[in-house]
Amino acid sequence: MKDKLSKLRTEFLQQLAAVKNNEHLRQLEIKFLSRKGELSEIMHGLKDVQVELRQEIGGFANNLKVELQNEFSKVSKIINKLEEKNQNIDVTLPGLNFPQGHLHPLTLVQNEIEDLFSSLGFMVLDGPELESDYFNFTALNVPATHPARDMQDTFYIDYPNDKGEYDLLMRTQTSPMQIRAMQKYGAPLKAIIPGRCFRNEATDARHEHTFYQVEGLLIDKNINFANLKSFLEIVGQRLFGPKTKLRMRPKFFPFVEPGNNGEYTCFLCQGQGCRVCKQTGWLEIVGAGLIHPEVLKAGGLDPNVYSGLAFGFGLTRLAMLKYNINDTRLFNGNDLKFLEQF
Ligand code: FA5
Repeated sequence: MKDKLSKLRTEFLQQLAAVKNNEHLRQLEIKFLSRKGELSEIMHGLKDVQVELRQEIGGFANNLKVELQNEFSKVSKIINKLEEKNQNIDVTLPGLNFPQGHLHPLTLVQNEIEDLFSSLGFMVLDGPELESDYFNFTALNVPATHPARDMQDTFYIDYPNDKGEYDLLMRTQTSPMQIRAMQKYGAPLKAIIPGRCFRNEATDARHEHTFYQVEGLLIDKNINFANLKSFLEIVGQRLFGPKTKLRMRPKFFPFVEPGNNGEYTCFLCQGQGCRVCKQTGWLEIVGAGLIHPEVLKAGGLDPNVYSGLAFGFGLTRLAMLKYNINDTRLFNGNDLKFLEQF
């Protein structure tokens, strides 16, 4: 009888280990543990066992029954949990919320400008933020002792370049890419270069130490001031609407000749005068001019063959106008209350 019980134990445990669901479990219970199951049947035979062995075998059978029932309830709990998990999926419950990031307002405006100029056939280039004095100033017709250097408060870097010279700085403008682009691509050339610039400013609502510009270059044979004017008109109308007018006022930039500030009729008041344009009806948007012959030479081009126009937008200022933001420092502040509005 002991042998029969041991055999039943092995068989039961093997089948229990293979159980996959409640249905299967119920069949196993009926087969082995129910009142008419195999275990009860064997135990019925106890009355036929010799009296002196009955107590020992009876004890063995009872222990076995407890063991099998314990094993059964352990597996039963696991199977129940698994089935509960599978059955209790409520597909109407709201899903888990994974917060999603989004583009920074400066990136949105940069993308818009890139789309505009790409559609006019311009390449979009990128340039180094850690620049050399040569590209940022000297090659742009601002030699070491020139007072025009004072127009841009510069962060010079106290670290030598590969040649051991102290000529590194954080670029103050995207204009050094004029030279790099000419040197790399030659002429004819149509390119814009959006990017981050740095100046040692006493910061206020309109001045940050870190801000964005977009540089533009158009170089070919016979590019003249009329081209510059019509080009800036097209850009203004694409940026601010078809009724936008352009006004050009002379301004000195050492790398263009003649140089000017491009102003557009205020898109908010259509030139009538409002808070945004400080009642003038005009918004100062772009520095521009015909590229200085010395700059063309530094870029490796012959000024007797090629001429070109260059322009520089304050991208940060454009974003301020577009979204009616009154303090430029908000862009770098990482305040989610500000950023989540875009
Ligand atoms: C320049 O930087 C010239 N490189 C632009 C240029 C390019 C002229 C090509 C001619 C030909 P300016 O220093 O004015 O120019 O700066 C251009 C624009 O950058 C400004 O109109 C302004 O919108 C933005 N800007 C300059 N400094 C800051 C600042 N500290 N914070 C925010 N925006 C600034």
